[in-house]
Amino acid sequence: MNRPADIRYLFEPRSVAVLGASTDRGKIGYRLVENIVNGGYAGKLFPVNPKGGEVLGHRIWRSLDEVSEEIDLAVIAVPAKAAYQAVEQCAKRGVKHVPIITSGFSEIGNTEEERRMVRLAREHGMRLLGPNIFGIFSARSSLNATFGPADIHHGSVAIVTQSGALGIAMIGKTAVENIGLSAIVSVGNKSDIDESDLLGYLVADEQTRIILMYIEGVQNGERLVATLKQAALKKPVVVVKSGRSQRGAIAAASHTGSLAGSDEVFDAIMRQCGVLRGESLEEAFNWCKFLAAAPAPEGENTVIVTNGGGIGVLATDASEKYGIKLYDDARLLKEIFGPVTPDFGSTKNPVDLTGQAGPQQYNAALAAALANDHIDATLGLYCETAVFDAQTLAGMIRSNAEAYRKAGKPIVFSILGGEMTESCIGDLRKESVPVFGEVYQAVSCLGALYRHRRHAAEYSDAVAEAEIDVSLVEKSVASARAAGRTFMLPREARHLMKAIGVAMPQNAVAHNFEEAVRAADKIGYPVVMKIVSPDIIHKSDAGGVALDLENKDEVIDAYQAIMVNARRYKPDARLEGVEISQMLVRTTETIVGARQDKSFGPTVMFGLGGIYVEVMKDVAFRAASLSRKEAQLMVKEIRSYPLLLGVRGEKRKDIDAVVDTIVRLATLVRHCRSISDIELNPLIVYDSGQGVMALDVRVLIGDAQ
Ligand code: ACO
Repeated sequence: MNRPADIRYLFEPRSVAVLGASTDRGKIGYRLVENIVNGGYAGKLFPVNPKGGEVLGHRIWRSLDEVSEEIDLAVIAVPAKAAYQAVEQCAKRGVKHVPIITSGFSEIGNTEEERRMVRLAREHGMRLLGPNIFGIFSARSSLNATFGPADIHHGSVAIVTQSGALGIAMIGKTAVENIGLSAIVSVGNKSDIDESDLLGYLVADEQTRIILMYIEGVQNGERLVATLKQAALKKPVVVVKSGRSQRGAIAAASHTGSLAGSDEVFDAIMRQCGVLRGESLEEAFNWCKFLAAAPAPEGENTVIVTNGGGIGVLATDASEKYGIKLYDDARLLKEIFGPVTPDFGSTKNPVDLTGQAGPQQYNAALAAALANDHIDATLGLYCETAVFDAQTLAGMIRSNAEAYRKAGKPIVFSILGGEMTESCIGDLRKESVPVFGEVYQAVSCLGALYRHRRHAAEYSDAVAEAEIDVSLVEKSVASARAAGRTFMLPREARHLMKAIGVAMPQNAVAHNFEEAVRAADKIGYPVVMKIVSPDIIHKSDAGGVALDLENKDEVIDAYQAIMVNARRYKPDARLEGVEISQMLVRTTETIVGARQDKSFGPTVMFGLGGIYVEVMKDVAFRAASLSRKEAQLMVKEIRSYPLLLGVRGEKRKDIDAVVDTIVRLATLVRHCRSISDIELNPLIVYDSGQGVMALDVRVLIGDAQ
């Protein structure tokens, strides 16, 4: 096993070979050579084909063996049946990176052949990209080793895409949108190199300002989470993921499992990592284009300048949706905008210049916002009026956008109207001026900028660690495993809860009424009593439950009544005794769960608990490698959070204890991978300072991996 090749040589190879290079202009092997040559790649190029000859002025080598020089990158474009042999040739020659264009592997079930290539590559420290890809473009080396478009506009956005066809389409779309690329990499089947490997390079690459990823499925999610967390601190990472509607793929073995539709988990974890997830490709492209050029704002005070009340209200709604903070110091707003607003307009935010505003009024208001230190960003809105012609409108927007760019303050425009306005948008967008027809699109761009800024400023990567007794947990796991079970019995689960430090009601099993009284005295009144019998499932139906027993006499009576009832209900039932437990006051019921997610590894869930949990679906997810602050955010995120703050004169609940429980479960599933699912439902939350208590716990056991 050799050390894996440095990822840098994938983007900055000093020499490139193309296996399957062809003189046939209709073939991918020709197109690759053509794109490399015409793209201006300055390194050495070695087309390879057993037939030999010449292509585009380059000698075709009959075999890689003939090439004596070191080869950093070898693109494979030979048919699937010849691919392994080609990889072998590369390994023999010590090639560093091998993008495999060829299709016909795991994507059609031919998994073994793909694995064979990966094994061989790993033995030689060689990295494979793909297979089933369209190639790689790297602006830094002017390398277009793709069979996609010939002319790729250089810039600062790097794209990593799992879909080849979509990737090629994205090259076209970015060209139309005037978005320059620093790199585009097709990852295809991700047999070896995946997003995390590529992020390693792209985050450090100075030319790359934004990273856009199109993801269909996540394989090594735990590693991706760690890489993304770091990446998003350095530069905006935008993700588009397909498969939003895919739900219930995870076996509904528990609430946590059935609630954790893979998309919800993906979404939550992307937010946790500070990644900006676009609803659509269009939104993602808008963000990329805006973020690539937008200056970093000093603060969050945003002002809307408009000539129409309606569009101003729309922008206000959109601001709330995308988390934009509208500056609302009425006195200062009046001071800033009073001199440039007509008497019948408004200096409140949105600042309404009214329908009669022309270029002069806009220029004055936008300049006032630019000049004032209290204002950090501006939204310029315009509804078509007769006051502007297309040229002056475009000129006004262009000059203000330029002034803001120079001063380092973000501005984004939304202009609405007919043909004239539309053509104005088209022209300005070609020049990369941030202008949109739809208000929400404009505001969403500013929202993305602020979300990125907030994450970078507030993120803490200190993973909260609770004190848990791992060996005690393992004992419970071993006990269940020894009995051939994949779940824990209540007794085992209780031990586990003790090991992780989460309280459950006190209980004891009594085999006669004297024992029952002793147990009740110890636990403290009032108590609950329940029949213990492997043959009676519905204890209440059997008359096997007694609640709210306040003293010794009531315990004695209840013990006898339960035994008689149970015997009468099922004469042949094995009666093992009576369970006595603390009678609890049930207040706010929550649920805390944790599991080993198929894609992301250890994850945690928190939500409103009780019997309606699956109906309400008021839950929040995170990767279990979370900070205490992130656990606090989870609690705040659910819709029912006000219940924990105390409603209708109730006291505030013990939110700290809830956060503590989340951290305990997160620590558990991180350290004990054999716990595949754990769920505390309900977790009763008492008033502040009084703690929490898990009334029920379910634990599933899986593989340790
Ligand atoms: N070493 C070097 N050259 C070789 C070797 C070898 N071991 N074996 C064959 N060749 C040559 C062939 O002689 C041929 O050259 P020629 O034109 O001089 O005869 C060339 O390699 C290509 O071989 P062909 O048999 O002609 O195969 P073809 O070019 O038709 O297809 C390809 C090869 C493109 C790799 C095909 O098998 C394939 O996988 N196509 C799908 C690619 C794809 O879509 N990838 C996903 C992209 S993403 C998206 O969806 C857009």
